[in-house]
Amino acid sequence: MTEDDGIDDEIDDDEIDVRYMHGEGGTSTEWMDQPKMKKMFQEIEHRLQGVLGTGRYEWVDRRVFDQVFDQSTLLSIYKLMRKGVIDTVEFPIARGKEAHVFYATSIDGPRAVKIFHTSNAVFKGLTKYIEGDPRFGGLKRRHRELVTIWVRKEHRNLKRLETSGLRVPSAFEVNRNVLVMEYLGSDEAPSPRLRDISVENPEAVFDELLNFIQVAWNDADLVHADLSEYNVLWHNDEPWIIDVGQAVKSAHPNSQEFLIRDVRNICNWATKKGVDAPFEETLLRVLEG
Ligand SMILES: Nc1ncnc2c1ncn2[C@@H]1O[C@H](COP(=O)(O)OP(=O)(O)OP(=O)(O)O)[C@@H](O)[C@H]1O
Ligand SMILES: [Mg+2]
Repeated sequence: MTEDDGIDDEIDDDEIDVRYMHGEGGTSTEWMDQPKMKKMFQEIEHRLQGVLGTGRYEWVDRRVFDQVFDQSTLLSIYKLMRKGVIDTVEFPIARGKEAHVFYATSIDGPRAVKIFHTSNAVFKGLTKYIEGDPRFGGLKRRHRELVTIWVRKEHRNLKRLETSGLRVPSAFEVNRNVLVMEYLGSDEAPSPRLRDISVENPEAVFDELLNFIQVAWNDADLVHADLSEYNVLWHNDEPWIIDVGQAVKSAHPNSQEFLIRDVRNICNWATKKGVDAPFEETLLRVLEG
């Protein structure tokens, strides 16, 4: 930490006003009226030009900003910028139900920043009936804590898989609902999903994907649990596996069921591409290491 790290020390989690988290409170930016918060935001505003709508990107959509960057998230971004993990946040690469992925820069090169929503529609629907009932307090905070655990889990899973020599984006840092990882793509565009391209040699890709499942299971002791052509990026002529938040260890009571599902998805993909990929044999191949 540098000496002028004042705001980092001054603002901590307890100061995040849950009223300004997404939920019934909407997207209020009243919290910015607090001098400390204002100062924090002013410090990073110019590095968020892409997402704020003053940058050079055409996609800019104010709703994205309001939806994703609540007070807590801005604070996380601020801390990551302070630490030098990221320099600027530029534009969204993808928008999902659970998270937005942004293209960001750092002095060490481009980064992918996955920002998990701290509140989703289902959760919002439920809180209506619970928040405000004096018997149940702090629900939003607890939900946010759950999201934080999820993001840490994705971070740890990425590290674990990388340690086993598997092709996943390197995980750099997490802060609450924000995960910073290696950006897979070029200056022009992020790498496409396996789903969106046709590969020259599907047989070889099938083998690579099976190898991933096998090494993850036998060496990293993990099963991806959502492996499909949607969560594989085609990068530098190789398949890279992403979206590992839900991956579990073999000790998880459903791990074998997840493993079977992953193998089935990959077999289905391969079969669609004309590869001979019988499910039972393939599963045996994986299990026998
Ligand atoms: N490291 C990365 N580099 C480049 N693009 C990425 C990276 N990580 C994710 N993406 C892009 O963002 C999309 C969403 O990422 P991811 O699958 O991790 O999130 P998700 O919220 O689970 O999305 P979904 O619900 O659509 O599966 C990916 O399909 C991919 O296009
Ligand atoms: Mg995904």
